[in-house]
Amino acid sequence: MSNTTFAPLKLFITGPTYIRDDVKEAAKLPEFGHRDSENDLRMVPIFKHLRALAGAGDKFHPALLLGSGSTSMEASVRSLVAEDETILNVSVGAFGDMYYNIAASNGKKAENLKFDYGQPIDMNVLEDKLKSLKPNVVSFTHNETSTGVVHDIKAVCALIRQYGAMPLVDGVSIFGGAELDLENSGAAIYCTATQKALALSAGFGVAFISEEAEEKAKTVTNKGHHHDLVKHMDKARKHQTLTTPNCTLINQMYFQLERIVNEEGIENRFARHIEMRGMVEKWVEGIDGFDMFVPEGYRSPTLSTVVCPEGVTVAQLKQGVKEALREEGYLMDPGYGKLNAAMEAEGSRLIFRVGHMGDITPDMLGEYLGKLEVELKKL
Ligand SMILES: Cc1ncc(COP(=O)(O)O)c(C=O)c1O
Repeated sequence: MSNTTFAPLKLFITGPTYIRDDVKEAAKLPEFGHRDSENDLRMVPIFKHLRALAGAGDKFHPALLLGSGSTSMEASVRSLVAEDETILNVSVGAFGDMYYNIAASNGKKAENLKFDYGQPIDMNVLEDKLKSLKPNVVSFTHNETSTGVVHDIKAVCALIRQYGAMPLVDGVSIFGGAELDLENSGAAIYCTATQKALALSAGFGVAFISEEAEEKAKTVTNKGHHHDLVKHMDKARKHQTLTTPNCTLINQMYFQLERIVNEEGIENRFARHIEMRGMVEKWVEGIDGFDMFVPEGYRSPTLSTVVCPEGVTVAQLKQGVKEALREEGYLMDPGYGKLNAAMEAEGSRLIFRVGHMGDITPDMLGEYLGKLEVELKKL
């Protein structure tokens, strides 16, 4: 064994995020066979709790895809966009662009409709695009992690449906941290992951697949193997995974979801995230020269984006503030790299992000903001 030591940093980035000690301990639960009855002991409650967190009703079935959030996004594109169809990817930041890149790199006829960083989807512009392009499928981001914008997914899906298209939703950085009501959302599929507001390690893409999506997937060709939602559903219906899962993560997921639903309570978890967003807003109001990046009403409950005073540089955020906080035991997020580089190049004020998702508590956040403030005041 080498004697390298790893720093026990508290992660205030936007995922992966802080993992509680009892969730880490759950990794020691016994290994099991994924086609054995021991699998059901874990997976039946996992699926039940995922549905409860999503407000999935009977219309949606969860499936776990070995991989991460982008695995479920790629499966949605491969399985739900037919060869002769067009997908419109609606982007308010880096992860909206990522959905477009996934579609384009899979050879789909794709167009990216982009909005300004920090702004939500402009529904009038989207409506004009739906009228002119007439896409069959439309993807958008529920919670844009690069900018901190959250959307009302019911409103966006309703507009997409009005023009006869199928909505695919990326909910990677919000699922498990905010109320969803997926059953009545209008989405055809909702893609998420384990390493954000569920406060687990990365390892699965989670796809909530509607009956409508499954039926359509049956008609789409060239889905590959691991991106074929029909194959995933065949196994998910039996509370299994298509491929060998990460059994350690399943054990932790079992423990964590039992804890969330039966100990913390779903409503309390959602309320805690809203409380933490409010804490950051209040904190920003109290420090001169700093502002919230996103307009009120569109601010994410799982991460906040803060605009720095004019003149603050990427180097100051990355080497100054971030490294000073590392000395204090924290991993700070100095802003989405490409976004801040672009903003610095055009002379705009830079941003940084505060991840407050998963199992971060208001006390932990309060302590972190105090330390962060000391460093920001040195700028
Ligand atoms: C909104 C959003 N979508 C997609 C992704 C990609 O997910 P993953 O890294 O789990 O593949 C991320 C990752 O940060 C994200 O925040």
